[in-house]
Amino acid sequence: MRAAAFTGIGSPEHVDVESFPDPEPGPGEAVLEVEACSINHHDLWILRDGFRIDEDELPYVAGMDVAGTVSAIGDDVDGVEPGDEVLLCPNQTCGSCRYCREGPENLCERFDLYHGGLAEYAAVEADRLIALPDGVEPAAAAAIPVAYMTAFRMLEEAEVGPGDLVFVPGATGGVGVAAIQLADVLGARTIGTSTSREKLDRLETLGADHVVESGDPDEIREAVTEIGRVDVTINHLGGPYSEVGLNVLRRGGRMAICGQTAGPTSTLTMGDLFLNHKRVIGSTMGTQRDLERLVDLVADRRLEPVVYERYSLEDADRAFADMDDRNAVGKLVVEP
Ligand SMILES: NC(=O)c1ccc[n+]([C@@H]2O[C@H](COP(=O)([O-])OP(=O)(O)OC[C@H]3O[C@@H](n4cnc5c(N)ncnc54)[C@H](OP(=O)(O)O)[C@@H]3O)[C@@H](O)[C@H]2O)c1
Ligand SMILES: [Zn+2]
Repeated sequence: MRAAAFTGIGSPEHVDVESFPDPEPGPGEAVLEVEACSINHHDLWILRDGFRIDEDELPYVAGMDVAGTVSAIGDDVDGVEPGDEVLLCPNQTCGSCRYCREGPENLCERFDLYHGGLAEYAAVEADRLIALPDGVEPAAAAAIPVAYMTAFRMLEEAEVGPGDLVFVPGATGGVGVAAIQLADVLGARTIGTSTSREKLDRLETLGADHVVESGDPDEIREAVTEIGRVDVTINHLGGPYSEVGLNVLRRGGRMAICGQTAGPTSTLTMGDLFLNHKRVIGSTMGTQRDLERLVDLVADRRLEPVVYERYSLEDADRAFADMDDRNAVGKLVVEP
């Protein structure tokens, strides 16, 4: 089979189509003919910095968000059959730790994620497959898992409700757009930021109530404060945006954090945190049940995952370049 693999660490120029042996399903596994696989910033971290892999694992096939058709099943698989259209929940859990027993599963002590979807075929855990309802296209489905599960869980953990004001610094990428759309589904109002006017125009058509064109933390703090006191900040950027995200909260407000695109550390003012009863919540991914709920929202036409562009396998390098160059609004989907 062919796969878009990282053949080196560094820039999107190291994404090349290579040949690999066709995967065979092991016990409990299904092989999917991949119809669509979206990319995430996580994949870009692997390509740019060699995050989580060793050089000797090259060529490396990334891709966590896989939708496709079951082409073969291994022993001990019930629930899916060849020909089924499915979406993979990329969660990998041990099934035996305290958090697997008590839930939620995304706290698993040995939590990991599936990688390998940027290929014509993928061998995956059959128990992690969700049937695609009629009317949910593979490209739309593949846009959902990592970005929408993560945003959904953060909104839940931060207890977003109708009428709340939700602030999303960096609102035009996978997690950002998902947070804006899902906050809207929950009846909340939103503020999104971007450094690009053009991307903000698109974000407004996707339901953002207020937009701020800036990448400067102080300017953003001022603009958001003028709009109103924020109930919840959904923060995937980290770095200096974390201090801003905390400052703009009302008394009792919550900030959920899932990422550090803009840096791993930030200054937080203790007095602002405790005197104003604010809360900071760390969150990673979501549960398979969350993903099922999201697929149902799409099937019910209450949510339309935002696909910026679809790319062939040969153009996977361009998908990574578009993410790296910050061109996209929403998700970039490769169709092998
Ligand atoms: N913990 C988890 O479970 C989890 C799950 C998913 C994602 N994440 C993390 O969340 C982050 C977002 O992931 P994603 O896939 O949504 O990424 P993405 O699509 O690349 O995000 C693009 C957004 O980030 C902004 N941005 C990019 N680089 C920036 C920089 N250096 N400074 C400020 N803003 C910047 C862009 O702003 P402009 O509009 O101005 O270009 C855009 O709004 C990543 O760090 C990822 O690792 C974590
Ligand atoms: Zn576990």
